[in-house]
Amino acid sequence: MRQKIVAGNWKMNKTLEEANILASEVSGMVADEVRGNAKVIFCVPFPYLTAIKGVLGNNSRIALGAQNCSEHEWGAYTGEVSAPMLKSLGIPYVILGHSERRQFFGEDAKLLAKKTDVALKHGLTPIFCCGEPLEVREANQHEALVTKQVEEALFHLDAASLEKVVIAYEPVWAIGTGKTASAQQAQDMHAVIRKHLASKYGQAVADKIIILYGGSVNAANAKELFACPDVDGGLVGGASLKSRDFTEVIKGAN
Ligand code: G3H
Repeated sequence: MRQKIVAGNWKMNKTLEEANILASEVSGMVADEVRGNAKVIFCVPFPYLTAIKGVLGNNSRIALGAQNCSEHEWGAYTGEVSAPMLKSLGIPYVILGHSERRQFFGEDAKLLAKKTDVALKHGLTPIFCCGEPLEVREANQHEALVTKQVEEALFHLDAASLEKVVIAYEPVWAIGTGKTASAQQAQDMHAVIRKHLASKYGQAVADKIIILYGGSVNAANAKELFACPDVDGGLVGGASLKSRDFTEVIKGAN
């Protein structure tokens, strides 16, 4: 039985004051209303990590994640934030390879393989993102592209390391567009990813890997998406920015 995870990716949104309010509201609503054991993660902007950690206190239902980290550990890399820095803040998760990082910051498979290695080396759990743009889906090449993204960034890992990685499938055409993949489209791709993992690592390892869906997840569609056998929760953008919406999404995983 895989752990269900609902991760909110706040991206580059919120002032510190707004961020504190959002975290506090969701934390309260989760405590009061959410039954079940889905793990909740807030992936917040770097400067807010410590403050939000303070807001969450010892709430064991909600963990924190960063949205990126450097492929380097230390040194003269102005403006970068490293995996050991995140570790020293007590941050357990880090999103890697989000499509916005790939698109706007030129992140490629080679770089993401390095970032994955450095995150794992320092005990962070990478939430590794993959997903196809619209034209690739329309050309019916989506399975080939996504399995290639997974393979190029992760298949150098041994099984024990791979088991520490969370994968997030996020079709680019569904991100921030309000156009969600249907539950069937999500399930189909998640099954393809799991099968590909099994081809290299065996079914027992593949069955342990948590695969999240991301792309316009909201209160209305979360339950159906998260009920798919290979969908282990979600990576949520827009709907994670409003406490009521995000709490309803979390309920969809329980
Ligand atoms: O990381 C989250 C994804 O980019 C999804 O964003 O829920 O706003 O479509 P969205």
